[in-house]
Formats: sequence, structure tokens, C-alpha cells
Amino acid sequence: MRIAPKTDNIPKRWYNIIPDLDFNIPPMMSSSGYALSHHDLEYLAPYFIIDQELERDKRELPIPKEVSEFYSRWRPTPLYRAERLEKNLETPARIFYKDEGGSPSGSHEMNTAVAQAYYAVQDEGVECMVTATGNGEWGASLAIACNYFGIRCKVYMVRSSYEQKVYGRYVMEILGAEVVPSPSEKTFTGKKILAQDPNSPGSLSIALSEAFQEANSRDDTKFSWGTVMNHVLLHQTVIGLEARSQMHGVGVDPDLIIGAVSGGSGLGGLAFPFYQEGGRGTRIMAIETAACPSLSKGRYAYDYGDTEGLSPMLKMYTLGRSFVPPDIRAGGMRYHGISPLVSALYREKQIEVKTYMQRKAFEAAITFARTEGLIPSPETSYAVAAVVDEALACKQSKEKKNILFLLDGNSNLDLSTFKDFAQGAIKDQPFPEKNAQAALEQLPEVKTG
Ligand SMILES: Cc1ncc(COP(=O)(O)O)c(C=O)c1O
Repeated sequence: MRIAPKTDNIPKRWYNIIPDLDFNIPPMMSSSGYALSHHDLEYLAPYFIIDQELERDKRELPIPKEVSEFYSRWRPTPLYRAERLEKNLETPARIFYKDEGGSPSGSHEMNTAVAQAYYAVQDEGVECMVTATGNGEWGASLAIACNYFGIRCKVYMVRSSYEQKVYGRYVMEILGAEVVPSPSEKTFTGKKILAQDPNSPGSLSIALSEAFQEANSRDDTKFSWGTVMNHVLLHQTVIGLEARSQMHGVGVDPDLIIGAVSGGSGLGGLAFPFYQEGGRGTRIMAIETAACPSLSKGRYAYDYGDTEGLSPMLKMYTLGRSFVPPDIRAGGMRYHGISPLVSALYREKQIEVKTYMQRKAFEAAITFARTEGLIPSPETSYAVAAVVDEALACKQSKEKKNILFLLDGNSNLDLSTFKDFAQGAIKDQPFPEKNAQAALEQLPEVKTG
């Protein structure tokens, strides 16, 4: 059942959760141990993005008219009740999902891409944005947004995805973005990694190092984060703000909010606006891939966002920046760390975590596709696995819980994953714990005081 949004219901402001938290979010640090200021970050990111990243006091930040106009092409996005899935599972639970798959790039990442490209062109002399992508959805989102605001886009794409997920690459190239498989011969990090392992599948943190080097070496280029950072989660709150008003419109409050996490932007974007409403009784559940369980098996520590240590240091759950996750199909979930905001909420026991292997995730995705009529992204598949388990637990306990989850994207760019799954060609990939332990031994030392 489609819960139709009112077309004038696009939020006018993003929601910043930080003023509503009763604990502190540790600041970003430099390698020499001081809290980074606006000035320290200007070489990397657009001016107003840094303002948003560092904002600690304002609860609401206005969405510029130009961004709103672009949002109105596909927003507000629909909220659905998954009645056929409920029936299939014979559960008394009510399952709702916010569907971000109708954006121009087919995923939620469009929400922040538009805002970042808009703010980039407010800076004098910026002609290009550079980024790193796992699957291609984020790169495609940024390519679309850069075209809209008249600047170039360059994307370092994790090599395993570049080879497996050719359609993501084609979309970016058709859109005019320059796509470079990472590790590449174009940067010192890429060269170093290829010298050690010419067949390296790459990882998001390696691709990020390469993108940072590009941004550092050019005055006309700014770096763009697709996830992890506060400003990205801020932009993604349009998802939860809309979902909140749609659910209220039908008189329902969620008991449980579920989202797949890598950097944590989709889950944060959906869940934080419910937190604002005093919805602290609502359980929030982050779903990780068992192959890269940053929250559940990582350490809460300062670490860099990239392999080389070029980004600021972030206090987050991390498996260590040199950890290279197995090349599971949900490429967007192959990242060693997770957003400082999601990390802090997990630390404070306000977010729960569950992990799934990829086969269980894809089995659940097939059930969802056969009942609800659309194939979710490989990342969303993990969330669907948790939704199915929670709904089956409600069947046992006869509880009528309201479960809300994020369908962060469709799998239009990634049907080969589901073809391979159907042909039995996808194996579970366990967590390489020893590699993570070795990577954790290299956590940076943080000088304080
Ligand atoms: C389609 C899709 N979903 C989910 C994610 C996970 O990111 P996040 O945890 O920031 O939502 C990604 C990341 O690349 C993605 O491409």
C-alpha cells in the first residue's frame, strides 16, 4: 500500500541531531592532536559544507531554494506498507519502508550529492568535485549533481566493483564523469598498493586516499564525501523528516527503525528525525555485513577515514584503516569505519546492531522482490533480512510492532549480483578477524592535552 506524500511536503530544513544529544560528539582531530577548525578544512571541502560539518548548536539548517528545486524532481519519496510481505510471513507486525530508489541515480545518495555540488559552486574557482565510490550509486549521484550545477566530476571506483559492477561505471561515464579504477597508477597510494599486490581488489578507504590526493593537488577541485561525515547525515535527514510526517499522516509511530549501514548515512537520515521527536523509545537497529562488521567488532577510537591517513581523524568504530574487506557484493558496505554520530549513539546504547552474511541477505531480498515487486539494492538486502527476522519474532510473540526500514536504493545497476545468486555463484564471506587485528594495531596515536 502506497502512503501518498503531499507534494508540497518536501522539508524546508535539514535536522541536526547534535544539539538534542545529551552526550558529546568528539571533534575531528589533526594528526598532531588538536581539534580541527574551519580554517584547517578549507583546502578539502566547500566553505558552507565545513560550516555544516562543524555545526553544534543549530538544530535546523535551511535547505537552499536551488537544492529544494532539484529535490522536487523526485521528492517527497513514497512510503509503502509491505502488506504482501507481511502476509507471506504471517506476521502481526506492520512493515513500512521508505523508498529512495526513485531518485535520478536510484539511491538515497542523491540527497547529499545535490547539496554538496550546490555548495561547491558557491566557492570561487571550484570546477570539479572528486570522490570515491564502492558500487557506483554514489559516483552516479555526484555526477548527476555536478552536471546540474555545471562542474566536472571525477570518481575513484573500488577496483572489485569497477570490474563486477560495470553498469555503475557505464552510468557515470555516460554522465561525463571521469572514472578511475582504484588502486590506480595515478596516485602514490595507488602505486604503493599495486606494488604490494597487483591484484588488489581495492577498498573504499584506498579509493578515498586517491581522491584526497587529487583534491589536495588542485585548487579547482574539492573533495566530496558520500557518507560518514556529519554534513552527509544532515542532508539525509530529508528521508526521516518526510517519513515521520507520512507515518503521522496515517497515525502510526515506528517501534523499530532498521537500516543497512556502511558509513551510516542512510540509517542516520531515516532515524534521527524520529529521535528529535522524543522518539527515544523507538529502537534503532543498524544492520552490518558480517564480512565488514565495523560497529560490532570494531574499536571505538580515533582513526583516519582513508588508508593513507590524509583525512582528518574521526572518533568512530573502526576495523583499522588498512583493513581490506572481502569483496562481497554490497560494495557500499566495504568500509572500515562508520559515522562518528552513529558510532556515538551506538556507544551510548541508543542504537543496536545485527550482522548478516550475504546469502541470507539475498534470500530475504528475493522474498521481498516476489512479494513487493521490486529488487532492493544489495545493501538494502541486509536490512530486509533483519526485517524478516524481526517480523517472524513478532509472529512468535504475537506482537503488533510497527517496523520501518530504509529501502536505500534499487538494484537496477546490479542485477548481475542477483543472477549470480540465483546460479549459486555467491558464497558467504566470513570476517577476516586476523587482518582486522593487524589493521587495528596501526591505529594512530592521538596526542591530547
Ligand atoms: C546503495 C547503497 N546503499 C547503502 C550504502 C551504505 O552507505 P550508508 O551507510 O552511508 O547509507 C551505500 C554506500 O555506498 C550504497 O551505495
